[in-house]
Amino acid sequence: MKKYTNISDIKNFPKAIQEAIQLKKNPLEFSALGKHKTLGLLFFNSSLRTRLSTQKAALNLGMNPIVMNVSGDAWGIEFEDGTVMNGSTAEHIKEAAAVVSQYCDVIAVRAFPTLTDKEKDETEQVLKSFVKYASVPIVNMESATAHPLQGFTDAITITEHKKNNKPKVVLSWAPHTKALPHAVANSFVNAMQNMDVDFVMTHPKGYDLNPEIVGNTPVIYNQADALKDADFVYAKNWSSYSDYGKVLKTDSDWMITKEKLGDAKFMHCLPVRRNVVVEDAVLDSENSLVIQQANNRTFAAQWVLKTILSNL
Ligand code: CP
Repeated sequence: MKKYTNISDIKNFPKAIQEAIQLKKNPLEFSALGKHKTLGLLFFNSSLRTRLSTQKAALNLGMNPIVMNVSGDAWGIEFEDGTVMNGSTAEHIKEAAAVVSQYCDVIAVRAFPTLTDKEKDETEQVLKSFVKYASVPIVNMESATAHPLQGFTDAITITEHKKNNKPKVVLSWAPHTKALPHAVANSFVNAMQNMDVDFVMTHPKGYDLNPEIVGNTPVIYNQADALKDADFVYAKNWSSYSDYGKVLKTDSDWMITKEKLGDAKFMHCLPVRRNVVVEDAVLDSENSLVIQQANNRTFAAQWVLKTILSNL
């Protein structure tokens, strides 16, 4: 594997899940693999889990992680070709990516969408520019349209906690006060499409994800119908894709409650707004897997870094 920008970069997904679960049992088994190798983590946006778990994964492999909050601390980066750079940007991505490649053996990047310019967001300009102009492998720590480290984590968590061979997994839209990206939902859909699960999505009308990602995955617009007999309920908010970046619904009808959840396990990528997305009674119950998910972020990242290091 030369890069990890999407779930599809993992060629044998079930095997990768099992290998990540093995890494979790002995996290320091490959602590010599990354010796004298540097991971650069570049954040254009905020993070708690991705930042710490990816550093932890690198440390478990013996790598040296170095972190930069690009938006706050670096020179403003220009991504357009042929621009007369007499505005706010001071450095072109051609130099920036090439320079960071001198210091790092692997570069991980987080860059969220604008949610105002659909066409631009779908070009994945920041992530793809790093892939194009860096001379080292790139890892996606959440881009405009994908969060593959999260999707891989979620697949690991479901595999660990499933009680039958083909669990029913429901991705349910849930309310939020702000316009949120589609990346987590997209990568969760990608991950579930690569697993042996009975997978359905539920969301209000107007919240359909990119049809190219949804493919043949069933969409049920009635949340109660979708949640029936669920083994796992994955809650996530996202803004409208068709009415791009808009918040069409904020009332609490779609919030996940203990009553709606029943005996199912609850999942969310975090951070989560309590009593907006999901009620306290769910997050504080034994049915919640959100902390186990957050823990698995380390082993998803570790599998990715280990695989990349093995191919350097
Ligand atoms: N789930 C997730 O990516 O968390 P952070 O935004 O805190 O990294």
